[in-house]
Amino acid sequence: MSDVLELVDVSVVREGRALVDQVSWSVKEGERWVILGPNGAGKTTLLNLASSYLFPTKGTATILGGTLGKPGTDVFELRPRIGVAGIAMADKLPKRQTVLQTVLTAAYGMTATWQEEYEEIDEQRARAFLDRLGMTEYLDRKFGTLSEGERKRTLIARALMTDPELLLLDEPAAGLDLGGREDLVRRLGRLARDPLAPSMVMVTHHVEEIAPGFTHVLMIRQGKVVTAGPIDLELTSRNLSLCFGLPLVVERNGSDRWTAQGLPLGQ
Ligand SMILES: Nc1ncnc2c1ncn2[C@@H]1O[C@H](COP(=O)(O)OP(=O)(O)O)[C@@H](O)[C@H]1O
Ligand SMILES: [Mg+2]
Repeated sequence: MSDVLELVDVSVVREGRALVDQVSWSVKEGERWVILGPNGAGKTTLLNLASSYLFPTKGTATILGGTLGKPGTDVFELRPRIGVAGIAMADKLPKRQTVLQTVLTAAYGMTATWQEEYEEIDEQRARAFLDRLGMTEYLDRKFGTLSEGERKRTLIARALMTDPELLLLDEPAAGLDLGGREDLVRRLGRLARDPLAPSMVMVTHHVEEIAPGFTHVLMIRQGKVVTAGPIDLELTSRNLSLCFGLPLVVERNGSDRWTAQGLPLGQ
């Protein structure tokens, strides 16, 4: 299996501080990774590297075969091959555009609508992705009027629109209520188990948000990798405690879901 993403000794230094500190990590085709870590650990910075919007200060980052900063690597060719759904994207999208337009414009690499006819096939694809994310009833709603959960589902449909080889999700379940979270986890689980879906990397703070079908976990603390590998081996109480800096117990439930809690006082 080929590498979709390979970081070798990558550091990102800003104002003398390493936000990402000597990270080596590779994602192979078909893998579904979860990135776990406390606030400020460097998770979003890692996704910015993976989406080619940020270059390493030191080390090498190779995405879909292109090494960032090397002659011959054109990030403008790379970017359409990477789907990104995060909070930063939501702010860039016009609030008055409909849900369908919001997804459709992704096919043309734009954030705003253009005064041209879209291809019928693109519209069908946009409708299909929105349907998959449970957004069929909202096609004509203005993006700016959506709830948090509806907006997140629209952004994921949008990220899939260019048929990316790598899908990056930054805290897709943050801010959702319990029903919204469970609905999203179910849909992400379906996507994760779809052999035709792109390789995936999802950032989260909460093990409860890990959908069945995710195969690997990377834990990061203060810019450094705590552990990286198969979720079955690495998502342990010990690793999670090291990652978040307090004693935690992680449990796996029958249906491939996870929970974590702090140890009661006195233990
Ligand atoms: N452009 C920047 N310049 C300086 N510091 C930054 C910059 N972007 C992020 N940071 C800092 O880098 C650290 C990691 O940020 P981030 O990757 O967003 O963390 P996470 O997503 O894990 O919460 C944080 O301490 C944040 O304040
Ligand atoms: Mg973040």
